[in-house]
Amino acid sequence: MITASRLRKIFNRGAATELTAIAGIDLAVAAGEFVAVIGGNGAGKSTLLNLLAGAYACDEGTIAIDGADVTRTPEHARAAWVARIFQDPMLGTAAALTVEENLTLALMRAQGRGLKPALTTARRTRFREALSGLRLGLEERLGVVVSTLSGGQRQALALAMATLTPPKLLLLDEHTAALDPRTSELVMEATVGIVAKAKLTTLMVTHNMEHALRYASRIVMMDAGRIVADLGSTEKAGLGVSDLIERFRIRDDRIVLRQAGGA
Ligand SMILES: Nc1ncnc2c1ncn2[C@@H]1O[C@H](COP(=O)(O)OP(=O)(O)OP(=O)(O)O)[C@@H](O)[C@H]1O
Ligand SMILES: [Mg+2]
Repeated sequence: MITASRLRKIFNRGAATELTAIAGIDLAVAAGEFVAVIGGNGAGKSTLLNLLAGAYACDEGTIAIDGADVTRTPEHARAAWVARIFQDPMLGTAAALTVEENLTLALMRAQGRGLKPALTTARRTRFREALSGLRLGLEERLGVVVSTLSGGQRQALALAMATLTPPKLLLLDEHTAALDPRTSELVMEATVGIVAKAKLTTLMVTHNMEHALRYASRIVMMDAGRIVADLGSTEKAGLGVSDLIERFRIRDDRIVLRQAGGA
């Protein structure tokens, strides 16, 4: 269970450019839940993920993972519990290293300093198993240098690295957005497979409403640093892509009304 309570994040505090990116968020995500986070540009989706990962410190509020307060736990110390994948396939993997070297690094990161970097047969078998589940043929390419892989393969490798040791929380920030439509589907299917198999608690930021509707068990909609809608599986069951887009527009109208009223 991941619990965020009364989270606030203010950028450039005190400056003319001060901006409240997260304006008071309460969110509880049960173990095994797959939450799609949607919302317009600048809604605060990436900032929320950054707060959960510990990349940014919150200005107010608390974050707990399985009851343990991690609000002040730095990012590197949270890395054993929280894994994340970004939009840019270049960010999640080390280009100059081979596929198996990348996976070894991922193991060491998740399991701590005691682990030796040696590539044993047992470890290779484990890597092959993890990669074959992605169905992108990476299990045959353990010795290949990552810079020679396609964006989709790199993103799939990042996924394998993030989940080799199942994290308590998997954060995906538009991780298929930079890929061509076909590869995006393949990586999305690989994601769904891994999430379901390991029953991972997942927050996935996406602009792809179809992915949100089809794959997530819950959809959280953000606007101006707040959660403006939270749809469970029953509520989202009857919704189509156009319904979701319609809900966005309603929210935008409301924001405009509120601003006009406050002026
Ligand atoms: N490091 C930062 N310093 C200052 N402002 C920031 C920083 N990061 C984000 N912001 C601002 O905070 C707000 C929320 O940004 P965020 O990146 O979380 O939005 P988002 O919902 O992920 O948008 P997108 O869909 O474009 O990725 C935006 O107005 C953004 O400009
Ligand atoms: Mg973003």
